[in-house]
Order: sequence, then C-alpha cells, then structure tokens
Amino acid sequence: MITFYDVEKTFRRGNESWKFGPLSLEIQKGEFLTLMGRSGSGKSTLLHLAGGVIRPDSGKIIFQNEDINTFSEIKLGHYRNEHIGFVFQEFFLMGEFSLLENTLMPLLLRKINRSEAMQNAKKAIERVGLAGKENNRPAELSGGQRQRAAIARAIVGEPEVLLADEPTGNLDIETGKEIIDLLSSLNKENTMTLLLATHDASLADSSDRQLVISNGVFSN
Ligand SMILES: Nc1ncnc2c1ncn2[C@@H]1O[C@H](COP(=O)(O)OP(=O)(O)OP(=O)(O)O)[C@@H](O)[C@H]1O
Ligand SMILES: [Mg+2]
Repeated sequence: MITFYDVEKTFRRGNESWKFGPLSLEIQKGEFLTLMGRSGSGKSTLLHLAGGVIRPDSGKIIFQNEDINTFSEIKLGHYRNEHIGFVFQEFFLMGEFSLLENTLMPLLLRKINRSEAMQNAKKAIERVGLAGKENNRPAELSGGQRQRAAIARAIVGEPEVLLADEPTGNLDIETGKEIIDLLSSLNKENTMTLLLATHDASLADSSDRQLVISNGVFSN
C-alpha cells in the first residue's frame, strides 16, 4: 500500500539536528500496523512522511506505483485529501462548527455535490456512533465523542489509509480502548489500511504487526 525505501529526513534547529532513517518499510493493503516507541523516537515523523505532510530529504515513498515526493504541492494536497485519513491526539476539530460541518469539511475540497457530501457525512457520523449529535459543536461532546467525530471526518472520504497518531492520548483507558476497537473494526470492514502510533503496548494487541522505532530507525 505504502512502501518506504531508505527514507531519510533531518530536522535542524540552531546547532542541533535530529535524523530520521534511513528507514525502509512495506505496509500491506488492509494491514493494521502499530508503531511504538518513546517520545521523540520518530513516530509522528513517520506518519507525517507517509501522509505527505512533510517530504523526505532522500529515499522514496511509493503509493500506487508513484513516489509521492515527486508530486507537486497541489498533487500532494490531493493525495492527502483523497487517499489519507488523519486522526490526532488533540482531535483538531473546528470549534465554531457543528459535528456535521466538521465531518463535511474534507468533502468540500472535492468536486462532489452538496447532497451527496451531506449523505456521506451523515453515514460516517452514524458509523462512529454519533447519530443524533450532528448539530452539536465539539465543546458539547465528551473527549471520546470528539475523537469519534475526528474519526468520522477522517473516514468520510473513504481513504485507503488511516493514520492515527496517539489517538487515545487524551482519553481515559476505557474510552481509549473503545476508540481502538472502532479503528480496528473500520480496518477489518473496509480493508482500510491502519497505521497507529502509540506509547501504549496494550493497545497493540488487536493489530497485525507491531514495530518499535527508536531514534528514527526500527529497533527489535
Ligand atoms: N518540524 C520539526 N522541526 C524540528 N524538529 C522536529 C520537527 N518535527 C519533529 N522534530 C524532532 O524530531 C524528533 C522526532 O519527533 P516525533 O514527533 O516524530 O517523535 P514522536 O515519536 O512522535 O514523539 P511523541 O511520542 O512525543 O509524539 C524529535 O526530536 C523532534 O524534536
Ligand atoms: Mg508524536
């Protein structure tokens, strides 16, 4: 689904630098892969590279036979919007908009008609268990419901790949488990490839494969 070949990325700040990679990784279609590692080990960096949020300095990131690093900014934007769904620890919902509007957002960037977009958004909201909350604003939802809302927004465009960066980090243990169960069932039902970054090894149980990253490279 997504393949990394010798991907490298160096961040520089003043005299300090931190290097990711070289890292190679083949993510299979439909796979549920958990990425673990300590804070600062490079989990988010890997997700950002896979999602076309940042570009590597060298190496290739292949999606459907194309190296996404060769894409123009516009094409990379389409890649993120059409093929990738993102879920973050901090939810990143837009506070002044309703759940329905938040969920619709990714579809408004596409050329699909309003009523179809509306239907898809309602379907996604129902799928994550928030039917009836369409008109609520994020502040009127609990933490777990906000993460469900963020998942509805991530899946509304039916992306092939879902990238979840510490999606349970702001939730209590029980609610976190429910969110992982939801992500896992989306992976199983829709063969949506799922890449989950987490500190919590107990959340990795339902995944097909677990990788540990340390200082920008895989460790055993
Ligand atoms: N845009 C950036 N500019 C400079 N340094 C960065 C940038 N993004 C990440 N880094 C550095 O890269 C390293 C890896 O960061 P990354 O966010 O990938 O870690 P992480 O494993 O996701 O950590 P956490 O578990 O705390 O989220 C860190 O040392 C971080 O400071
Ligand atoms: Mg991170």
